[in-house]
Amino acid sequence: MISRRRFIQATAAAVLVPVQWMQAETKVLFSNKFKVPPLVQSTRSGADVYFDLNVQSGFSKFSEKFKTPTWGINQPFLGVTLRANKGDRVHIKVKNSLDQTTTLHWHGVKLPAKADGGPHQPIAPNAEWNTEFEVIQPAATLWYHSHQLHATGEQVYQGLAGMFIIDDDASQQLGLPSDYGVDDFPVIIQERDFNADGSFRYLTGIEDETMGKQGGLVLVNGVVNPVLKASKSLIRLRLLNGSNATTYHLSFDDQREFHIIASDGGLLEEPIKAAGFTFATGERLEILVDVSDGRMPVLQHRAMSMDMSDMEMSIWESLLMNIMSLVTDTNEENSVVDVFQIDARQVTPEKVFIPSQLVTHDNTKRKISAKRTFTLEMLTGVESLLGFSDPFTINGQAMDMERINHEVKANTSEIWTIENTTMMAHPFHIHNVQFKILAKHGEIHGHELGYKDTVLVQPGEKVQVLLNFPEFTDADTPYMYHCHILEHEDGGMMGQFVVV
Ligand code: C2O
Ligand code: CU
Ligand code: CU
Repeated sequence: MISRRRFIQATAAAVLVPVQWMQAETKVLFSNKFKVPPLVQSTRSGADVYFDLNVQSGFSKFSEKFKTPTWGINQPFLGVTLRANKGDRVHIKVKNSLDQTTTLHWHGVKLPAKADGGPHQPIAPNAEWNTEFEVIQPAATLWYHSHQLHATGEQVYQGLAGMFIIDDDASQQLGLPSDYGVDDFPVIIQERDFNADGSFRYLTGIEDETMGKQGGLVLVNGVVNPVLKASKSLIRLRLLNGSNATTYHLSFDDQREFHIIASDGGLLEEPIKAAGFTFATGERLEILVDVSDGRMPVLQHRAMSMDMSDMEMSIWESLLMNIMSLVTDTNEENSVVDVFQIDARQVTPEKVFIPSQLVTHDNTKRKISAKRTFTLEMLTGVESLLGFSDPFTINGQAMDMERINHEVKANTSEIWTIENTTMMAHPFHIHNVQFKILAKHGEIHGHELGYKDTVLVQPGEKVQVLLNFPEFTDADTPYMYHCHILEHEDGGMMGQFVVV
């Protein structure tokens, strides 16, 4: 509520005075320190890298009042950050120290199906899973999380998620901020509700199950509304929407522009100037923020009742939207939620350098071997209440571990059309690929121009994507495609494909 009032003042000021005067007065709003997830300990011999992961339980403090039972990987809440180079052979030992079965899935990684960590690679309590794969893709901000059948939502909510960063020579030569925790920061955005005893409150009713679990408190790397003390003029944020369900519409409170440099699958061809963007669960996005002005911008989420899917807004559009959201400010849906603040008062101003070109994507035209359609459906009303049929389906079928829905040929290209017949947006995710969006309603812009493994499909929308499948084959072990709203995935909006 405080943030709302401050926001109204800022916007009112923005209407009256030139933009650069808007933040004449700044103050630190948040008191929690920004936490950088530690990098995983690894041992290396040549191109072989070894990670030792322990899926564990523990306790975390999100407020002074109580301790919350949480899960994490090598720490009490969330995972340590994995880091490897293109060309590395990664060996991961995952020990499950929980008292229930789990999995760890490497989201966005191109890899053999057996190494994917999906529902077909469960790790029983006290068991160990040893997996390995070669990193064949370019530098990117990927992530990892539990993918336990029917329990992904709950396990991720409990804390089973972390970042997986890939580096390569091409990205290192660009001079981008890349000093982890110094000018290059992981930003895992999630939200949680709490019970009176401090434990996380997960599903409490039909709305949580239908819309997916949203929460009242926003966490960044497991900390409520932290302040990031910047020491450099240009900082790189590797944002991950690790929420169970919420789609964020992010921008800074002072409407400052920044550069989007990467999408799910890695760097864009060139930086894109923007003042805001839409960010669905499962997606990643990297931005460069110039904080040489020494101010204290707050990254905010503007929840919207109307659909703002194409939100690479210009500064004026974003301002206009603020004003509009004031005018229509009658319900929760148009509220402003603070995510975190950057405190740049200690920064010694420097002229920042932003490369005009980043990397070249391989856009060669390929023969299309198959076209497939995926229709997302959700039952509402009587049928689902009575439990007559599966509430969430793709092409009329709910996830079945025994059924392979599609067979794909390795090293071929396909076009998949994802069709949303429901009243809400669904972020559709496909394992083992980084695809390009070919067509959607409206223009493809911003991070949607880059490589994607998750794409938000709006109600009534059809999105066409182009997939190039890597060389790995395995007729018996499927990969998943699914809605990344975890309660939809757990509820059946998931299917399987094998690559042969
Ligand atoms: Cu991020 Cu199949 O998952
Ligand atoms: Cu995935
Ligand atoms: Cu969904």
